[in-house]
Amino acid sequence: MKKSYQDIEYKRDNGEIWFNDLKRKRENGPALNTNRYSEYNDSTKSVHAGQYDDPETGALGTPIFQCSTFYLNEKSYEAIEEGRGRDEMIYSRYGNPSQWSVQEKLSSLENAESSIVFSSGMSAISSTLLAILDKGSHLVSSRDIYGGTYNFLYEDLDKFGMSVTFASPTNIKEIEAAIQENTKVLYFEALTNPLLKITPIKELVALGKKHNLRVIIDNTFLTPFNVKMLDLGVDIVVNSATKYLNGHSDLIGGTVSGSRKLVDRIWPQMLKNGGSMDPHACFLLERSLKTFALRMRTHNTNAMALATYLESHPKIKRVYYPGLASHNQYDLAKEQLKGKNSGMISFEIEGGDTNAHALLNYLKLPKEATSLGGVESLISLPYNTSQASLTKEQQKAIGINDGLVRLSTGVEDIEDLISDFEQAIHKTFKK
Ligand SMILES: Cc1ncc(COP(=O)(O)O)c(C=O)c1O
Repeated sequence: MKKSYQDIEYKRDNGEIWFNDLKRKRENGPALNTNRYSEYNDSTKSVHAGQYDDPETGALGTPIFQCSTFYLNEKSYEAIEEGRGRDEMIYSRYGNPSQWSVQEKLSSLENAESSIVFSSGMSAISSTLLAILDKGSHLVSSRDIYGGTYNFLYEDLDKFGMSVTFASPTNIKEIEAAIQENTKVLYFEALTNPLLKITPIKELVALGKKHNLRVIIDNTFLTPFNVKMLDLGVDIVVNSATKYLNGHSDLIGGTVSGSRKLVDRIWPQMLKNGGSMDPHACFLLERSLKTFALRMRTHNTNAMALATYLESHPKIKRVYYPGLASHNQYDLAKEQLKGKNSGMISFEIEGGDTNAHALLNYLKLPKEATSLGGVESLISLPYNTSQASLTKEQQKAIGINDGLVRLSTGVEDIEDLISDFEQAIHKTFKK
């Protein structure tokens, strides 16, 4: 006989583990007829994977399912009773065909069993960590982590009885030394901001295996086009979709991908935190992802050309770019990034922050704005944006030197970008 809700609640009130009484099925995926194009390459996947063509109308392309709720039926009642509403049409915070469509495209691009889209990168990160960590557990993370993530780890984890130790993302020995008896997770970024340090993923995964820890990587700066983290043995990959995945600087979003089992564990945390992605944002993200591979190829080649140009310029003191032989992890970059490198560049200009400000004023194409990964080049100074909360001494101690500039290279014509830098550097030193 089927159990009623009252039975389940009654058992819970009596302190029994009511979850075990549920006949949970693990669904294969969303209740939609879409194709992942898994056997194809990234450009083809970007264009076709996950798209839902409406059989009723024959409309080509995923419609926007702009609804908060759905008609209930036998299937949805059963899914509610069994606590597996993730892939049924019930309520849009649980799931919505617009979300599933873009999630299927992401799973295809990440080579993942499953993915979830979130209302922001921070929502994806905080929900993932709260879902994977238990009370009393500890994680090791990076000293160079994104500020929003640092704030969550440093300010909020202890409210949940969890703790964190920060270590260098490039020093596996230091990371291992930070592991404690209660450590459960290694949480790092694949490429750091703004100095573009490379986390050695294979070594980190081996360390995770040795100590039975989950490895979670924020791959926002690289994306699955440049490195597929799950193929390297990472358990969960997160991205701020606000950046390269969407690529048009017009939405805020986040993604999580991994095994169905782990992503199913993150999904109820997303429900509790309320961070699901709005259907219209899903439409924008899915549409943007159609040109993802196309955009990434240009970001990468433009950045390589611009980094080479900047490095040869007498007024540029130093360039940080993984594709340059001068990068202090060049061999690791070659192995891990396989020549794709990144669209991000940082560099130090002669004359410090004063000249850095002048340069930004004279540049016509790159927009002076925070964020990254847009089709337009975006430029900012870490000292008064991403690292503004640090004192000058602290900034120096972590390598944020006077005159450091961060550039997210867009997809403009490379000749135009180089001549824009040429004229702006010239004007900066003429004054
Ligand atoms: C590496 C990295 N991770 C996560 C985030 C947070 O993403 P969002 O702003 O979409 O919440 C950012 C934002 O800049 C980021 O740079």
